Amino acid sequence: MEHKKLWGGRFSASTDSNLEKLNSSITFDKRMYAEDIEGSKAYAEALKKINLLTEHETTQICKGLDRVKIEWDQNLFETKEGDEDIHTANERRLKEIIGEPATKLHVGRSRNDQVVTDMKLWLRSHLQDLDKIVKSLIKVIITRSAHEIDIMMPGYTHLQRAQPVRWSHYLLSHAWNLKKDCDRLDDIVKLINIMPLGSGALAGNPFNIDRMSLASSLDFDSVTQNSMQAVGDRDFIAEFLFWASMVGIHLSRLAEDLILYSSKEFEFVTIDDTYSTGSSLMPQKRNPDSLELIRGIGGSLFGQCCSFMMVLKSLPSTYNKDLQYDKEAMFTTFDKLKSILEVATGTVKTLKVNQDKCKNALSFEMLATDVAYYLVRKEVPFRDAHFLAGKVVAEAERKGVSICDLTLEELKNISSSFDVDIGRVWNYEHSIEQYKAIGGTAKSSVAKQIELLEKWLM
Ligand code: ARG
Repeated sequence: MEHKKLWGGRFSASTDSNLEKLNSSITFDKRMYAEDIEGSKAYAEALKKINLLTEHETTQICKGLDRVKIEWDQNLFETKEGDEDIHTANERRLKEIIGEPATKLHVGRSRNDQVVTDMKLWLRSHLQDLDKIVKSLIKVIITRSAHEIDIMMPGYTHLQRAQPVRWSHYLLSHAWNLKKDCDRLDDIVKLINIMPLGSGALAGNPFNIDRMSLASSLDFDSVTQNSMQAVGDRDFIAEFLFWASMVGIHLSRLAEDLILYSSKEFEFVTIDDTYSTGSSLMPQKRNPDSLELIRGIGGSLFGQCCSFMMVLKSLPSTYNKDLQYDKEAMFTTFDKLKSILEVATGTVKTLKVNQDKCKNALSFEMLATDVAYYLVRKEVPFRDAHFLAGKVVAEAERKGVSICDLTLEELKNISSSFDVDIGRVWNYEHSIEQYKAIGGTAKSSVAKQIELLEKWLM
């Protein structure tokens, strides 16, 4: 029998051409051709086990599907009018290749359980790519941090000079955020690994198909327990979009730091020529476009997440065509995130850190906390010590000198606990080395961070 459309039986008039265009998803869901074929082959095997396909038909179907896949792989697959989506297109082509047995493949299955299965398969394998790139960025940070552990710089809060820190400690703060992203990814994979196939359109599978063995043939850990939930579930997409937004935000914050640090006002880093661009008007310009794009795309990833959440909100139960938007959100997010991860990795790898500029940006006022700690070590209670150190800062300001230039006498006027050993406080490295407790900026602690991250990466 000739069928123009998979669902054409009850229709007498043809679809409006504008609706046809809007309804069609083949232009983007063809990216899942391999997963669609993988799912169909496994489904054919499952049908054979319950005698809905003969051994011969199953072989024909699987061989035919292998041929369809080769056509896609070699870019020879020709989509035709009426190929509404990847599922329709593959089935149409299979029928052209093997004839009638192709029409038996879809029994008990719906595009509703098929599409969500395909997406889970696609996302599962592509998340591995993203995981790899995030880890390679972490690796770049680790390598730099190990080499550049002796570089000191101002650490900021509120973008005001706060306390001296190691450049490596600063860099590693970004690596730890990215590590959390990798950990979060493992949770998404758990959601993905529950197979929806066998849920049909919404009511389940009427032929008592063995879903457990179907799941293990597709490498899923388990199967969904409610068919209505399964066909309407896109939580894993929403989680992926949120995850990508979070990575995007982490990259954007890193980018923002580096944009500031590469400005003439800071000059802590120089972005490599390969990741900078010039101005068509001002010959002197070196613009950190790479970082600005990361920052911009970081925002647009959350836009995707947000817009998809709005698609989900108030959807009636089970499958609704609104859900077709999930693929654009998934693919766009994947592509954008991948590109900014790659650019971030290259930018961080190639930038030059200007050790002297970092060091020269340190100022003795940043040691005011150390003055308070000095007094604490002389048994002054911390609140009093903080107050007295504040007085030291005010006195230096009043005299128009740096706090380290106040005489011992002047200091003693503020607190009798000051002594000649205060001289040791005016040393940035000494300051940094106090922070030896886990997570601090002392060299031993930074080295430990590197060791932990390296071990985790292995
Ligand atoms: N292309 C559709 C999608 O991506 C496949 C599912 C279609 N199902 C349906 N009942 N119209 O969502």
